[in-house]
Amino acid sequence: MDLRRPVSSITVRSMKAHRVVLIPGDGIGPEVTEAVKRILAAAEAPIEWVQHLAGLAALANGKDVLPPETLAAVREHGVALKGPCTTPVGKGFSSINVQLRKKLNLYAAVRPVRSLEGVPTRFSNVDLVIVRENTEGLYSGIESEVTTGVVTSMKVATETACTRIARWAFRYSQQRRRRKVTVFHKANIMKLTDGMFIRCAQQVHEKEFGSFPYQELIIDAGCMRMVQDPTQFDVLLLENLYGDVVSDLCAGFVGGLGVVPGANIGEEDAVFEAVHGSAPDIAGKGIANPLALLMSAVMMLNHLGDTRGDTSCRQIGQRIKAAYNCALADGQKTSDLGGSLGTAQFADAVIERLRG
Ligand code: NAI
Repeated sequence: MDLRRPVSSITVRSMKAHRVVLIPGDGIGPEVTEAVKRILAAAEAPIEWVQHLAGLAALANGKDVLPPETLAAVREHGVALKGPCTTPVGKGFSSINVQLRKKLNLYAAVRPVRSLEGVPTRFSNVDLVIVRENTEGLYSGIESEVTTGVVTSMKVATETACTRIARWAFRYSQQRRRRKVTVFHKANIMKLTDGMFIRCAQQVHEKEFGSFPYQELIIDAGCMRMVQDPTQFDVLLLENLYGDVVSDLCAGFVGGLGVVPGANIGEEDAVFEAVHGSAPDIAGKGIANPLALLMSAVMMLNHLGDTRGDTSCRQIGQRIKAAYNCALADGQKTSDLGGSLGTAQFADAVIERLRG
């Protein structure tokens, strides 16, 4: 199939558009979401955006950091594409991202990390998927000052959440014909919490996916092996904090944060967003790489295709993927990847190849 061939515009126009919540976010968020919107429009993706605010942008408009109407809109439409939201360090409001994931019970964060043609890195054939538990662990945000100079943070692990993320990871791996699931843990030290995490993974594996290759590694040794040779791993199953850290580590294998997408998936709703943050150091300069959010939008189109039976979404996603791969292979890159294009110019390069 020629993936660059446009899907018939008659087919697209006759199809009902999917209403998707768009949260531009903070920092580079509005720049990269604008680029992605233009590319999806050029690809004639059947999407009707319903824009809502969150983060500093919401505060600046006199709203809560996570306005109830934003949450309600995601619940109503079931799918959102989200730009990054800034979280103050060491003070201020708690992370909107963490709140959103908890309130919508988006318990599975899935982050594919793949080498890209035209983006040379130390390892050329990386193909990893990080599955991160998204609702508990040390990100439960239960912190207290016991007495002056002594503070604590509570790490929460429940059997229910550990079991459901393990089941999600194995099911995903089996359906996608992946090679292996590896759990990184620290159950030698955190015997109860990480102990619970690996025990639940072991039980799900034994009872439901017995023949699927499964491995456990203590996280420090696992990270060492990872930087020696990431190709020995396939799907990584991690609790919340480890998943956050290892996602950025893995981004470094394939060109950095500008090229790693993500999805936060629950039983009812799904929010698609890049792994990167709001990048205040480059915000407003028009140089951010929109690719990570574009890849997240392709994941979103695949999700719409799978959950709503709209095959055109998957086809359009494939066309967009072919177009950005072609742009990269032609040397059309933003500065984080060693190129000279700005955000809008990279979007133009993708659009040109969609139409080519
Ligand atoms: P960051 O991911 O925003 O930036 C780290 C480095 O990567 C910076 O040098 C930045 O310029 C670069 N970078 C990130 N995305 C890029 C892109 N698309 N193109 C080119 N370069 C890019 O991480 P940082 O600085 O730790 O966090 C900044 C803010 O973002 C914080 O407030 C943090 O809480 C928030 N954050 C939000 C996330 C979300 O909304 N899902 C995820 C991670 C962080």
